[in-house]
Amino acid sequence: GLAEEPISRANSKPVAMEGPSPFSGSRKEESSLSIIIVGASGDLARKKIFPALFALFYEDCLPENVTVFGYARSKMTDEELRNMISQTLTCRIDKRENCGDKMDEFLKRCFYHSGQYNSEEHFAQLDCKLKEKEGGRSSFRLFYLSIPPNIFVDVVRCASTSASSKNGWTRVIVEKPFGRDSESSRELTRCLKQYLAEDQIFRIDHYLGKELVENLSVLRFSNLVFEPLWSRNYIRNVQFIFSEDFDNLHLFLIASYFDNYGIIRDIMQNHLLQILTLFAMETPVSLDAEDIRNEKVKVLRSMRLLQLEDVMVGQYKGHSKGGRTYPGYTDDPTVPNDSFTPTFAAAALFIDNARWDGVPFLMRAGKALHTKRAEIRVQFRHVPGNLFKRNFGTDLDKATNELVLRVQPDEAIYLKINNKVPGLGMRLDRSDLNLLYKARSDQSRYPKEIPDAYERLLLDAIEGERRLFIRSDELEAAWSLFTPLLKELEEKKIAPELYPYGSRGPVGVHYLAAKHNVRWG
Ligand code: NDP
Ligand code: BG6
Repeated sequence: GLAEEPISRANSKPVAMEGPSPFSGSRKEESSLSIIIVGASGDLARKKIFPALFALFYEDCLPENVTVFGYARSKMTDEELRNMISQTLTCRIDKRENCGDKMDEFLKRCFYHSGQYNSEEHFAQLDCKLKEKEGGRSSFRLFYLSIPPNIFVDVVRCASTSASSKNGWTRVIVEKPFGRDSESSRELTRCLKQYLAEDQIFRIDHYLGKELVENLSVLRFSNLVFEPLWSRNYIRNVQFIFSEDFDNLHLFLIASYFDNYGIIRDIMQNHLLQILTLFAMETPVSLDAEDIRNEKVKVLRSMRLLQLEDVMVGQYKGHSKGGRTYPGYTDDPTVPNDSFTPTFAAAALFIDNARWDGVPFLMRAGKALHTKRAEIRVQFRHVPGNLFKRNFGTDLDKATNELVLRVQPDEAIYLKINNKVPGLGMRLDRSDLNLLYKARSDQSRYPKEIPDAYERLLLDAIEGERRLFIRSDELEAAWSLFTPLLKELEEKKIAPELYPYGSRGPVGVHYLAAKHNVRWG
């Protein structure tokens, strides 16, 4: 079988107990790592996974004996795979030294095997090729399932029966979607666990690999000035904002996927909810994966079930502007004309625990909007008995502090403060204490380009660091929160509010916020 250890121990083992990495110290010569990208002919593999692996290779972060295998049904030779991926490999940070040489070296380690996803025989052929490259060394195999979810289980079955490591570990990275509701997600977990132990499964949420999301815990737990304020006593509301602009044509390529899922499942139930749990969790006992994930699960389990009245949905419609015509969502040929699938949604969530009682956590996520951004915005309460009240007129909201973590683009952390305008007289001004990463002059510590989320996550999976991957109970809790709402939206056929392609989104999003006394940042 594929198991790294008996299933009964799944979930219980902190990373520290795994012992030293097989890829460092005296064992490194005898160990070999094979990374198998299943679905290598696809979009994600080409755009994200191969470039991330190359970046790691360039930075010497991969073990000495590493081999990368692409696996898919498409017929391709090794050379054709190399040609395909070389088009998306870049030297991430400007023109780097020896980039071309490194690229050649990397490509020489890339191979391809064509096979069906449900054929044990084809995976056995892959196994032979893997063994040949491993050359008798201890074998460590990382499978990356970059394929549609309906074939996850077939692949895991075949890989575990015919291509698992016999003398090292076998790990499997699984891409979302992990089901489309509680029931299907539970079923997927059940099927995967027939072949894999929990600690072999690395469920990826690539937002957890983003620099600013990683930084959230550092900001909170290593700065005295933030953590004492991190509660209902000082925080009025928290906003999680995701927006994609109309240049993002990705949606069309995957419209058939998207129409079956919608923005709530695509972005809110995973990316935004993950950030929310990191934001709101109590201090973990340590930085161990299990300690952190335990705290995240507690947040999820303290959350109030989402109510229909605390949610609004939207869908973009076509329109013409400046002689150009912009298509609506249902104009896409793969989307049914009467589709109610939301391409925009907003929700107010509540965590019913002592720290967050009554604080609205607002989320909004949308496609085909006017801008691309992902942000966390923390709005603080008014200063009680503010001496400078009259300087702000009647709008005291303008005087509250706001902390913004801009996840992308242009990573930044800034705090809006009130400040005296220099000079005689007493005029106040809102200013930003601003840490804009790209404006930092010390490029050695704040590089111009920040590693892609996939680089960090792949490296963590190789090193057995599970902190940034989703544990099954976490997934279960996340689905429990959203499933009743999703069912209700679908059963009641709630029509989305239409908004023009490339606009700021539907106006209903402001009514929802106003109901909770919130103004969007
Ligand atoms: P693709 O649709 O490009 O599929 C990847 C490969 O899987 C294809 O090249 C094809 O290979 C095979 N495949 C596609 N459809 C089927 C099918 N119906 N039956 C059997 N095999 C099929 O997906 P992506 O690369 O875009 O994404 C891979 C996974 O990652 C998906 O689960 C997706 O939801 C998820 N994901 C993707 C993101 C992205 O940015 N693209 C972002 C986040 C998640 P072949 O025909 O050669 O076998
Ligand atoms: C994916 C979603 O998980 O994240 C896509 O399925 C979305 O719909 C993408 O476009 C956004 O990722 P990023 O890293 O470009 O913000």
